[in-house]
Amino acid sequence: DINEVIKHKNIIVYLVGGCVRDLLLGLENLDLDFVTLDDGLNFAKMVHKRMGGKLTVHNNFRTGSINLGNRINIDIVTARKEYYEEPGKLPKVEFGSLLDDLIRRDFTMNTLLLDFKNLDNPIIYDYFDGVSDLYNKKIRVLHDNSFIDDPTRIYRAVRFTCRYNFEIEDNTLKLINKALKNNVLTSVSEDRLFTEIIKGIKERNSYKVLKKYDEFNLFSFISNTMFINNVIIDKFNNLEQINKIKKGYKFPQISDTEVKIMILFHNLKEKELQNLLEKLSLKKDTKKKLLELKENYGKTLNILSKPNLSSYELYKTLNKKTYEEILYYLIMNYNDNIIRSRIYQYTTNFKNKKLLIDGKDIKDLGVKEGPIYKKILDIMLKETLNNNLNTKEKQLKVLKE
Ligand code: CTP
Repeated sequence: DINEVIKHKNIIVYLVGGCVRDLLLGLENLDLDFVTLDDGLNFAKMVHKRMGGKLTVHNNFRTGSINLGNRINIDIVTARKEYYEEPGKLPKVEFGSLLDDLIRRDFTMNTLLLDFKNLDNPIIYDYFDGVSDLYNKKIRVLHDNSFIDDPTRIYRAVRFTCRYNFEIEDNTLKLINKALKNNVLTSVSEDRLFTEIIKGIKERNSYKVLKKYDEFNLFSFISNTMFINNVIIDKFNNLEQINKIKKGYKFPQISDTEVKIMILFHNLKEKELQNLLEKLSLKKDTKKKLLELKENYGKTLNILSKPNLSSYELYKTLNKKTYEEILYYLIMNYNDNIIRSRIYQYTTNFKNKKLLIDGKDIKDLGVKEGPIYKKILDIMLKETLNNNLNTKEKQLKVLKE
């Protein structure tokens, strides 16, 4: 479809960046980035008209993004030039040549252009020897100032080494170490750095990324109390192998990223977590939940380890927690047989049990309103859990009795 628009309108457009890199590596990449010297936004509108999806426009840089809804994302930018006026801050942008648009990028392997006007004979333009670096598995910057301009590229370099099993080329590695020694990361906001951490934990082999981030000491710039140890790395590794376990425990589809964030913060004390969260732009509700989790963790574990824990107590303890939180408790305590079996009992047996009667049903029986209602509902919950009262009729029958 895009090819048709290009041919029909005679526009010069190239595929660029990560998708070309991954195409050459034979890997799937559904984020398609296009660059054009014509008006990127007009082109985006034409593509959108033909292909549908959700169009987002950025008027000042004549850029458009189309989300096709089938995991495919199309970004179309008008070629631009970027200036870094202050290290670590976002660049100033103006329209530029194609070469300007390539020079602003991080690594040679991300500067490849693919011209596919003739689909049978697509052409790659390679101005910085990106293809050779790609085949030699090297991550190489375009110029010596790259990490000063944008220190978050240090995180990107680490991620790419883990994702593709590449090496950071010698001079690039020296530049990273020099930039770190000069504390370039202190000029970047914690929030931007945290975004890089999140991108790392979303990688398929995130435990490797974490380990490497830590080797470069990349956590210390976000919080000087945050540290990663082998326990955390192990838990990340476990989580990646845990899909089978999740099935056995009847976990639904849940967000691994959320669980990973909980694990990542495991070593922080309450106050330390609070200080860190103040600097991050996570949703208010997410922050509240993370703090509550930290506050209640020890208490909840104590309850879950109690020798004679009743079904009712187990239900009450886990009922208000999300599946992500429960998975976190499970992962962190996977070697503890008691806790493991309690969680198993809850997720496989109790999680979907509900009290289907309420105060109104008690009132209908002529019971005078008062604290007795809560007592009755508690007793009914116990009955429901212990005797599998899974319909309202069954519960009403017991209530009457
Ligand atoms: N880029 C950059 N410096 C950054 C971030 C991005 O130079 N700090 C450039 C890279 O050339 C990259 C392009 O912008 O190819 C698009 O960025 P993004 O979509 O984040 O990167 P991808 O390379 O596609 O990485 P990923 O596969 O992780 O999405």
